[in-house]
Amino acid sequence: MTGLENFDPDWLALREPVDHAARSQRLEGLLAARLADRERVRVVDLGAGSGSTLRHLAARLRELGVAAEQQWVLVDHDRALLARALATPVAAAASVTTAAVDLADRDALREVLSGADVVVGSALLDVLPGPVATGLVEVLSTLDPRPAVLFVLTVSGGATSEPAVPGVAEAFDADQRAHGLGPDATGFVADALAAHGWSVERDETPWRLAPSPLLDAWAEGWFAAAGVPVQPLSAAVVPHEDLLAQ
Ligand SMILES: C[S@@+](CC[C@H](N)C(=O)[O-])C[C@H]1O[C@@H](n2cnc3c(N)ncnc32)[C@H](O)[C@@H]1O
Repeated sequence: MTGLENFDPDWLALREPVDHAARSQRLEGLLAARLADRERVRVVDLGAGSGSTLRHLAARLRELGVAAEQQWVLVDHDRALLARALATPVAAAASVTTAAVDLADRDALREVLSGADVVVGSALLDVLPGPVATGLVEVLSTLDPRPAVLFVLTVSGGATSEPAVPGVAEAFDADQRAHGLGPDATGFVADALAAHGWSVERDETPWRLAPSPLLDAWAEGWFAAAGVPVQPLSAAVVPHEDLLAQ
């Protein structure tokens, strides 16, 4: 596991409530409907970080009528983040275990996904290089039976700010493409899944940021990646997309 980025836990904590509010309730409803009659579900969270999706989705599935015992497996290359995820008990999850895995390792991925009923990933696809995303889709497609797959909060590019600052969004998106799939990620993965016979649905799930510590932190990274001096912003819309494949 070399050369992989370590994400700042403070950044993940800052974005967590906004992420939870932005997630597609329609796609969560479709997922819950699929799980309605189950007694037990194994949920594998890829790129789980410090556990944001566990904290949101376990309770959300319960609210949506999923009575199944939820067994969660949190997967990340970053052991320190996984340790943070285990620090907060989540009542709706019957069990939570972790696995330190690099998603580029197809054998390890196949093993950790074995028996999954649901595979989730949040703010993940855009940071993956194309070959890793392709490998992920190929491994998902060999699973029998196939799980439901929910990839949420993937950046889709073209952020806008108030006041508008010309050229920054384009420069930022180009920088993201240099590090991974960036804003092309949902389309890339959706096409790959469809080519393997999955039925894919997508919803736009933007952040709409008012003045807040999250807007300040996001703007700092946005301007820096574009090589532009930071300017005060009064608002921003940061496009994201959610994807459900079955
Ligand atoms: C932006 S963070 C999102 C974390 C969490 N899902 C959330 O929504 O707060 C992306 C996560 O993906 C993990 N990640 C990225 N590339 C990975 C890889 N190749 N193998 C395993 N984990 C990876 C990072 O360590 C990080 O925790």
